[in-house]
Amino acid sequence: MTSPGRSCPLSYRYAPEELAREPQLAADSLWIAGGLYGNPFALDCLIDLYERERGPKALVFNGDFHWFDAQTDLFQQINQEVLSFPALRGNIEAELAGPERDAGCGCAYPEWVDDGTVERSNAIMERLRAVARDTRRLAALPMHLVAQIGAARIGIVHGDAGSLAGWAFSRETLSTAEGRLAAREAFDAAHIDVFASSHTCLPVLQRFGDARAIANNGSAGMPNFRGERYGLVTRISTFPERSAIYRARCKDVYVEAVPVRYDHEAWERAFLELWPPGSPAHRSYYERIRNGPSYTVGQALSDELLDEATTP
Ligand SMILES: [Fe+2]
Repeated sequence: MTSPGRSCPLSYRYAPEELAREPQLAADSLWIAGGLYGNPFALDCLIDLYERERGPKALVFNGDFHWFDAQTDLFQQINQEVLSFPALRGNIEAELAGPERDAGCGCAYPEWVDDGTVERSNAIMERLRAVARDTRRLAALPMHLVAQIGAARIGIVHGDAGSLAGWAFSRETLSTAEGRLAAREAFDAAHIDVFASSHTCLPVLQRFGDARAIANNGSAGMPNFRGERYGLVTRISTFPERSAIYRARCKDVYVEAVPVRYDHEAWERAFLELWPPGSPAHRSYYERIRNGPSYTVGQALSDELLDEATTP
């Protein structure tokens, strides 16, 4: 797979062992927001929610905070607000900062994503590049971060345990025995109890016994479930949050999917101004923005995972 948008540049890769290090931050509650995709209304809503969190806390943006914000002022606004918190680079920021030849959008899309989607993603990236500023700062963002919450070591990544644009924490991969085996090996190599990821744009919560879990938040700035209009963030804390859509216990912490119920009407208006009908983002994402993807909470937990995780 070498066509633009399909490849995974070497600079995106790292060894899981790199995460076997001292934690860079510790808190009682950790919020992880991947896939904001340039939605300023989701960002406002998320910051409001986070400000209400009690006790020692941290908020980390784990990549792809830009995407639909292909307008100079909006791009700057998102950049400034997000970079006032710890942040990782996603493939979008990596490609803005130092485009790899033929990487396109840098998504490293697997074969189950169709060619039209890949081509439109590359077109969106070209428009975003034209307004991007501060790209050297984006290039300097790390690809992973380690946090300590209660007794749990948290590995925050954008893709998976080996690549910024990896798909190993997708439902498709984790529903296979090989995928779960590879995940167990990654937990061992990284000395991590909970991986928090994003990238695949659809949420997953999978436990591995009582002590390990993968929490993929899907998207903070787009709907994640059929018929719903809220984004999702991952919250990992020593105590539960009432609004969580679902959660799992892992060691002494709660791993939860918390809804970001942003102003949909305002976002839809802003999106249509930026990306009118016929534009690549409209063709790829408008239906999802309005009605959600064809994905359910049951799929995020998946049949064989359902008895391991619980809905509150
Ligand atoms: Fe991504």
